[in-house]
Amino acid sequence: MIRKFLAGLAVMAGLSPVFSPVAALAQDDVERQIDALLAEMTLEEKIGQLTQYSSFWDATGPAPQGGEQEEKFDQVRDGRVGSMLNVVGRDEVRAVQELAVEDSRLGIPLIFGYDVVHGHKTIFPIPLAEAASWDLDLIEQSARIAAIEAAAQGLNWTFAPMVDISRDPRWGRVMEGAGEDPYLGSRVAVARVNGFQGDDLSADDTIAATIKHLAGYGFSEGGRDYNTVDVGSVTLHNIILPPFKAAIDEANVRTAMNSFNTLNGVPATGDSYLQRDLLKGAWGFDGFIVSDWGSGREMIDHGFAASERDAAELAIEAGSDMDMESYVYRDHLADLVESGDVDIALVDDAVRRVLRVKHELGLFADPYRYVDDPAQEDILMAPAHRAIALEVAKDSIVLLKNEDSLLPLKQGEKIALIGALAADKDTPLGNWRAAGESDTAVSVVEGFEAAGVDFTYREGAAVQVGEAGFPQPVVVNTSDRSGFDAAVAAARKADKVVLVLGEDGLQSGEGRSRSDIGLPGVQQELLEAVHAANPATVLVVMSGRPLILDWADANIPAIVQAWHLGHESGHAIASVVTGAHNPGGKLPMSFPRSVGQIPVYYNYLNTGRPGPLENEVFWSHYNDLPNTPLYPFGHGLSYTGFAYSELEIVQNAGAVTVSVMVENTGEMAGEEVVQLYLRDPVASVARPVRELKGFEKVMLVPGEITQVTFELSGAELGFYDQHGNFTVEYGAFEVYVGGSSMADLGASFTRTGD
Ligand code: NOJ
Repeated sequence: MIRKFLAGLAVMAGLSPVFSPVAALAQDDVERQIDALLAEMTLEEKIGQLTQYSSFWDATGPAPQGGEQEEKFDQVRDGRVGSMLNVVGRDEVRAVQELAVEDSRLGIPLIFGYDVVHGHKTIFPIPLAEAASWDLDLIEQSARIAAIEAAAQGLNWTFAPMVDISRDPRWGRVMEGAGEDPYLGSRVAVARVNGFQGDDLSADDTIAATIKHLAGYGFSEGGRDYNTVDVGSVTLHNIILPPFKAAIDEANVRTAMNSFNTLNGVPATGDSYLQRDLLKGAWGFDGFIVSDWGSGREMIDHGFAASERDAAELAIEAGSDMDMESYVYRDHLADLVESGDVDIALVDDAVRRVLRVKHELGLFADPYRYVDDPAQEDILMAPAHRAIALEVAKDSIVLLKNEDSLLPLKQGEKIALIGALAADKDTPLGNWRAAGESDTAVSVVEGFEAAGVDFTYREGAAVQVGEAGFPQPVVVNTSDRSGFDAAVAAARKADKVVLVLGEDGLQSGEGRSRSDIGLPGVQQELLEAVHAANPATVLVVMSGRPLILDWADANIPAIVQAWHLGHESGHAIASVVTGAHNPGGKLPMSFPRSVGQIPVYYNYLNTGRPGPLENEVFWSHYNDLPNTPLYPFGHGLSYTGFAYSELEIVQNAGAVTVSVMVENTGEMAGEEVVQLYLRDPVASVARPVRELKGFEKVMLVPGEITQVTFELSGAELGFYDQHGNFTVEYGAFEVYVGGSSMADLGASFTRTGD
């Protein structure tokens, strides 16, 4: 049917009736084919292309009851649906695609979306953890493998990467992003989009990526999910928007998703400044925008739309092309067009964008390209994929503290391994585990066994009790201390203790904001009891966000941040604590000293009363806490040491080259993330005390010294002013280079004119 129809179209459009592969089609030809198809489509069929339904096999929102699923499939047959999400499995995708292609009048293929966020079957570290690797090649490979596996199961569109910058670890979705910094966030966004989309979107192992959530979702008040966002234009343009723009400019991302929140009073789905003026206007984005789940209809609750009809009008006018599960286009767009309230040109533009991406994916050339070969699935969980998952997991681990070189563990030491999370095979899979099967990660217990560590395991305390499935909330927490005595006894007998504490895999993620981000339940008590029994204690923290570790930092000699690391978690953690792998991860987000300090982030403004001023009251500070975070952005230790020297700046015809020597001063080979920070001390808009503007990861053997150079151009030196205009100003700049945002090796230069 599809081939018949398309051959007809080719004739109508004056093309060769032999349908050529999409990759070979010139963009003009694609647009002409879309013109021809649009001319054939009824208004209902056009609106169908803008309607996305969930299969409800794996939904992240409330599912309707009864026979609604069947009704939706009938609408697919009627050409009233353009996309499905949450159809899981190759056979299932094929069955639904057949309804669209064989049974609908025009046979337009569906595009199948799914939240493939950190792996599909092979589960990789959560995105926040991957960002801690600062390894863009590995991050790209991780997304590439996720795309290969998702495509093997018939999917052609992922709702990732989430590029929301956030400064609030109470927000459960920080696990899904790249942290607090727009520069690192932009580099990671580009790497992930490149990984998902590959070089050729029409290949059958590449999928369309989505940048989300446009915009400001990570700045919700109080870190409470779905909450109000109110930020000024300087923060919007300099902090929130850069990763979106980078993914469009540098990786040609094909779709974007708007967000649930209001931004400065306007729900993002109805925000024409973000969607029409910026994305589709100034930035030239020619893919399509999908709403978030039900966000069209939610504009009524926001107090922005009077009715569903009003919501549909506001959304299409603002540039939200496809409606995910709020039915406002399905139910009201036809009437809006027929009554003249909405210009059909807006609908046509939205449909054109959707059809364009379907063309680029090769779905018109072969709608079954992702599902026609069962052997495609042989690639799922391939050993090569596991091997990369292990590499990424090892590189994502951050050594926060290591007093007196307590780590790595030494040969022959007897270890007490304590904590329910050490035996947990599910938590490391994290929150967005796509098609990853529950309870399949390598636990720390298994990792220690495989590494030949001499250890005794005790649970100590459970992290959570009760039913804890997706999407139900995790029931926190146990008050059960019955395992304490055995844990303390084991600690006493051991040379060293490795205590694995933190959050359950489903304690972070969407809808999982927390007001208290200490160790959940009685784990803090367990930590104190075990430490009292044996001070030679290593704390391994599994979490989807920075936790408050102030007591641990003051008392525990060694702390390892191990996030939720995916399938290879236990192997990666064992390899770091035994020293088989020298950790090199660096924090992509500051760790606060207390919840009251949030937001605490490294690229803050100086204020008019910066301090610190001893014995003074009237400067910007808390009376009961330092202003600094517990662990700053960019921080991470190694088993070796690195020294920085000879920072030099050379200016040549407007270009600025910064060079520095980095030496491995210890006794073990190791990787260092060399970070460059910039400060513009006087500008027309107050600029942050430091901003990351470059980084490079280097591997050095003991005694090795290398030169690292960075180029700074207008893109790095400039900023967006309060009107959203990019400006590069003259005057002095300060540069700092080192192994964290606290780097103290600095130099300055003056930009005098090009
Ligand atoms: C809601 C989430 O906010 C969004 O990120 C996700 O892609 C959709 N649900 C679909 O699951």
